[in-house]
Amino acid sequence: MDNIVRLNLQAVVPFVSDNEMERSLEKAFNSFDILTNRSGRGNDFLGWTDLPSKTDNSVFNDIYDIVNRWERDVEIVVVIGIGGSYLGAKAAIDSLSHSFQTQLEKNDRPSIVYAGQNLSEEYLSELLELLEERSFACVVISKSGTTTEPAVAFRLIKQLLEQKYGRAEARRRIVAVTDISRGALKKLADQEGYSTFVIPDDVGGRYSVLTPVGLLPVALAGYDIRSIMDGALEMERICSQRSEKNPAIIYATIRNALYSKGKKIEILVNYNPKLQYFAEWWKQLFGESEGKEEKGIFPASVNNTTDLHSMGQYIQEGERIIFETVISVAKTNRSLSIVDDPNNMDGLNFLSGKPVDECNKMAELGTRIAHIDGGVPNIQIEIPSINEYNLGALFYFFEFACGISAYMIDINPFDQPGVEEYKINMFALLGKPGYEAKARELRGRFQ
Ligand code: PA5
Repeated sequence: MDNIVRLNLQAVVPFVSDNEMERSLEKAFNSFDILTNRSGRGNDFLGWTDLPSKTDNSVFNDIYDIVNRWERDVEIVVVIGIGGSYLGAKAAIDSLSHSFQTQLEKNDRPSIVYAGQNLSEEYLSELLELLEERSFACVVISKSGTTTEPAVAFRLIKQLLEQKYGRAEARRRIVAVTDISRGALKKLADQEGYSTFVIPDDVGGRYSVLTPVGLLPVALAGYDIRSIMDGALEMERICSQRSEKNPAIIYATIRNALYSKGKKIEILVNYNPKLQYFAEWWKQLFGESEGKEEKGIFPASVNNTTDLHSMGQYIQEGERIIFETVISVAKTNRSLSIVDDPNNMDGLNFLSGKPVDECNKMAELGTRIAHIDGGVPNIQIEIPSINEYNLGALFYFFEFACGISAYMIDINPFDQPGVEEYKINMFALLGKPGYEAKARELRGRFQ
């Protein structure tokens, strides 16, 4: 079934010759084999490939137990996590939520807020100020259980929960999602008796959206996680095919053909602000998976038409090292037409009666054509609409394409050695025992 994620390649054809495409396709098939035979680097992190077909009902039941536990008396759930332990849930929840969810007076589900995704004193202080006044609970998500940002946030949130409700009630209001055995969070959860969910050993952070890492917050926000998984399952079936009909193989083929021709930046473009965090999730997926050994396409994003008034100029006429991938949504979930104005002072009566989405679509098409004319190849990925099923499919599609793509440039898609560098420096500068020599070296460099 190729209509959940439909690729339109018309606007790439002028930029890549048939021969170049053929060579890239051959490489993509080889990488598909490496991925599916589990013979490549990082092959102990392939648990995400069959999550949709292997996740059993008990996972959903355990998740809905927590949803029911907090349904009556929790107004706000704080989801604590960073990187892959945060972006998937936020991508899904933002895509599915009313744009003005927080301003709506009647919410029949808890509001989801996030912590542990930064180290801002202001952000955390203001969050605590809010939580003082409201009934809240928290989901702390960290595979390693040792990541500084969520650990700092969790200390503060846990202390507030215990002060406000007492230890026993705090225990009812804390859920941990973590590794099965390793890490400080697991130890603490066992010691305190928190409910826990397991992130499988063979699923890395940025590939974990279809585990409780993504599913629990999304279910708490009131969305249908079974439907997300059904969409992902259909995409698992599609992506398992060694065929030119497999959109993940084709997407990987094209982006790598473009990369070989010097297109080193890929911009994921959306025309719906609900997808802004989907793009953030995508950027982390591709950036952390491919950006190694001085290789990899740099993933960027724009939210149009907003960013046509900021980044549009560069994309149209700046360095020609860019290609775009547009996520096109065929059908909106709402309908609204432009009203007639008898005065027509703005001269826009030619739009009267037209759906707003038609303007959006023509902005999209007009921009695609302008960018192609300006030398920017353009891949279009169309989904039928924004809903749980299609999002689940899109998550899986990009994960699978990312695995193939990284193997095409001979990169291990499943590690992130570069993320450690800043942590070592930060620990040294903060005086962590054992880091004294490093601290002296760093201080000597910047005085
Ligand atoms: O994709 C990844 O592996 C990373 O982005 C991690 O998700 C992120 O660093 C958070 O790690 P952890 O879940 O161990 O706290």
